[in-house]
Amino acid sequence: MYAPEKILDNKYFESIVDTNDEWIVSRTGIRERRMMENGATSDMAVKAIEDLLATTKVDPKDIDVIIVATVTPDMFFPATACLVQEKIGATKAWGFDLSAACSGFLFALQTGASLVETGKYKKVIVVGSDKMTAITDYTDRNNCILFGDAASAVLLEPTEDFRYGIKDSLLYIDGAGKDSLNMKGGGSLNPPSHETVDKKMHYIYQDGKAVFKVAVKGMADISYEIMQKNNLKGEDVAYLVPHQANLRIIDATAQRMGISKEKVMVNIDRYGNTTAATIPLCLTEYYRAGKVKKGDNLILAAFGAGYTWGSIYLTWSMD
Ligand code: UT7
Repeated sequence: MYAPEKILDNKYFESIVDTNDEWIVSRTGIRERRMMENGATSDMAVKAIEDLLATTKVDPKDIDVIIVATVTPDMFFPATACLVQEKIGATKAWGFDLSAACSGFLFALQTGASLVETGKYKKVIVVGSDKMTAITDYTDRNNCILFGDAASAVLLEPTEDFRYGIKDSLLYIDGAGKDSLNMKGGGSLNPPSHETVDKKMHYIYQDGKAVFKVAVKGMADISYEIMQKNNLKGEDVAYLVPHQANLRIIDATAQRMGISKEKVMVNIDRYGNTTAATIPLCLTEYYRAGKVKKGDNLILAAFGAGYTWGSIYLTWSMD
């Protein structure tokens, strides 16, 4: 994982917009978030992958595929995956960027797993990396307090021991959500111009209340559905690993699944919403703290722009 060093705490936001620490903590659970001062999404992805390769002792030359989940690519093209590939020296890899906002890591994880299942690819890297501060309007108190920068990566490999690995996924999109959460400027619909800049169309737009309502229901329902489908009860699940957008959405999801707070991975207080990075960031921190053990059943769940949402059921395979 990689989280930039610069911290923006709630006190900082009190100095730039009309807000306060009490409001932010009680409504979101966020206390601080990180900001990448120099560098782009690919630089954070590279640092996360270097950490991953050091941990797994994998040579970059053995990587087959790199999937970068992001909504803040360095550029429209080439893909961030190409920039990452060159920087880490993954000389035989191919790859691509995947855009599914806060569900990006889940969509990329299922895509990567499907590539491994073909039998053709043995080492697939899935990295969630987002430099949200690059598209955040720091005069908009509704949104600027929510987002931060980070990257985190996982390595997918084949196994013949079917007790472990990715066991099921439920993934959905619904474009009816396009007006509630988006960045309108810069694409083919609204190419960059003085007007798009003046209208702040290169920043995140979010109708927080509208998204909140569907996110609470969407994430809780999908997590419950995957448990039902796989005959899992609360006690069978070691951890819920939810996208970190709002602590209240996380709490509602855990409640619906019938699992206690201790079994929910949370680090939103320290990183805020890092979009595609939130889930692998949680996985890495909990794994490194010795809290995730081989054989643990995890339910990953996310909801985000699009709308996109989903859940993945997996059994942790690392010692
Ligand atoms: O990750 C992708 C998906 N995104 C999400 O899941 C985010 C979903 N939405 C949310 O998390 C929440 O809706 C927010 C955290 C964005 C907002 O929380 P809320 O409880 O829905 O607040 P609200 O929008 O209903 O606003 C309540 C009040 C408003 O004032 P009035 O209109 O009642 O007078 C806002 O203007 O709070 C005000 N407000 C603030 N006050 C202090 C909004 N932002 C702030 C702020 N500080 N930063």
